[in-house]
Amino acid sequence: MARRTLSADAPVALVTGAASPLGSSISRKLAQGGFRLALHFGKSKDKTLRLQKEMGSSSVETFLVKADLSRPGQVHSIVGQTTRRWGRLDLLVNNAGLFLPTPLLRPDWNDWTQLWNIHSLSPCALAVAARPWLKKTRGSIVNITDIYGELPILQGHAAYSTSKAALIFLTKFLAVAFAPEIRVNAVSPGAISFPEGYDAPQKKSLIQRTALKRQGTPDEISEAVWFLTSNHFVTGQVLRVDGGRFVY
Ligand SMILES: NC(=O)c1ccc[n+]([C@@H]2O[C@H](COP(=O)([O-])OP(=O)(O)OC[C@H]3O[C@@H](n4cnc5c(N)ncnc54)[C@H](OP(=O)(O)O)[C@@H]3O)[C@@H](O)[C@H]2O)c1
Repeated sequence: MARRTLSADAPVALVTGAASPLGSSISRKLAQGGFRLALHFGKSKDKTLRLQKEMGSSSVETFLVKADLSRPGQVHSIVGQTTRRWGRLDLLVNNAGLFLPTPLLRPDWNDWTQLWNIHSLSPCALAVAARPWLKKTRGSIVNITDIYGELPILQGHAAYSTSKAALIFLTKFLAVAFAPEIRVNAVSPGAISFPEGYDAPQKKSLIQRTALKRQGTPDEISEAVWFLTSNHFVTGQVLRVDGGRFVY
């Protein structure tokens, strides 16, 4: 990562689930683009500290914030901690997610609530808390959704898919509600990594269903986040980065 000069005027981004594969790639990309970063974590403190150390060696200013995004009481505080620290906020990336199976015919109320809180209610609450700050900087929000928020075919994952579908709708809703000062967009990844326990034939079959015949990389997602962050004439868009899964 290129070294950069510390600056009190540098833009500030808050990235949830920052140490996850996509979160860390997004955080690195934003750091390369000159952002200071509030790195959110839920349970992965050590992993997030390692990311912070890596960024510190490139003189990127970072700050760790912790919250369980399935619990409403903890959500708002991470925007407050970030703005108290740096006095501004330019970008919110709602990246945190949980791939938890929820059998359709035996719905578990707690699992459904947890997934809807993480994928839909928390991103909304964070967006509302961030709004006055993003208004001042004419900043933006990028939500990380999933192509399965538009494809009703992921067996055993009704709560995951419907909560990501809600995040897609929320993206468009907030783009209207927060305009003209704040832009709101989403990136919808296809297969970047595979869920634990997927065997080789399952992976192969997913790849066969893409036009480009391969899985994507975290960096291909962070490049899409960067595009949506830096192009100031785009709002309300859901950018599918899925190797052509949708058209194939
Ligand atoms: N990887 C893919 O192929 C793919 C495809 C489509 C969409 N996506 C979406 O892309 C995003 C990142 O995916 P990923 O595969 O890189 O990461 P991941 O392994 O799914 O990890 C997601 C992150 O979310 C955080 N998180 C989960 N539950 C939380 C909670 N209750 N409170 C606070 N944080 C919580 C975790 O933080 P802690 O570990 O600190 O708790 C973790 O860093 C997710 O939204 C996912 O749905 C990924």
